[in-house]
Amino acid sequence: MTTSQAPTAARIIVERGLHTKIGTAIVLGTGLGALADAVENALVIPFADLPGFPHGNVSGHAGRLVIGKLEGADVALLQGRAHYYEHGDPRVMATALETLQLLGVETLLLTNSAGSLQPDWPPGSLALIADHINYSGLNPLIGVASDKRFVPMNDAYAPDLRDKLRSAALREHIALPEGVYMWFAGPSFETPAEVRMAKLLGADLVGMSTVPETILARFLGLRVAAVSMVTNFAAGFAGGNPSHHETKDVALQGAAALQKLVRAFLRQ
Ligand code: HPA
Repeated sequence: MTTSQAPTAARIIVERGLHTKIGTAIVLGTGLGALADAVENALVIPFADLPGFPHGNVSGHAGRLVIGKLEGADVALLQGRAHYYEHGDPRVMATALETLQLLGVETLLLTNSAGSLQPDWPPGSLALIADHINYSGLNPLIGVASDKRFVPMNDAYAPDLRDKLRSAALREHIALPEGVYMWFAGPSFETPAEVRMAKLLGADLVGMSTVPETILARFLGLRVAAVSMVTNFAAGFAGGNPSHHETKDVALQGAAALQKLVRAFLRQ
């Protein structure tokens, strides 16, 4: 895919002082931004300094790349992501992800907030994404002129990374059920009828991010894992009537458990 901007962004990051290989990158969803403050020897680069990285209008996030050590691991944290609904571009994270790949990143951990379609996964709980449903008709690889665009999506969420996350959760006494995440473009929330459809189709979680990033990452050969923080019951399910205000508030409250999980995952 080489977007022309990824090599330039990678060069800028090296020029700003990156000397080690980073194994893991983490996209911090709503409420998780504080994890970036815990990074040691942090190299902090605003997205605005990196060509092709999303900037401006990154909802509720600082929009910066934070590279350094966390729990002894060399990590790159993307503090802030752009969503399809902000720009109408499913490739909005393409340059950022390709830049990470050029820097040697092999593992991508995506975090997000989501609505739950499981009665026993209430607001505040965490869930591991085992698979996804992309019912949007959109795909970030549309227009890529190479047979590489036919990316297999079996085990898109790597089984061994899911095992690692599950055992990290066990050690931290955090419940981490697995489920299917269904992507809705947003930015309006789903209707109760759409949520009933999602449930019928096999979804356990609904959300407005992650899926295009997973597709791009698999295209780039990165191994992917993803964790959702449930901020609400999905519209019409168990009384769910989500609002942006509620999802942001609950995401902040639930962030502690997700931070604990991510740290335990990195310690392994
Ligand atoms: N729907 C879509 N996205 C979300 C939700 C939801 O219910 N909660 C948090 N992000």
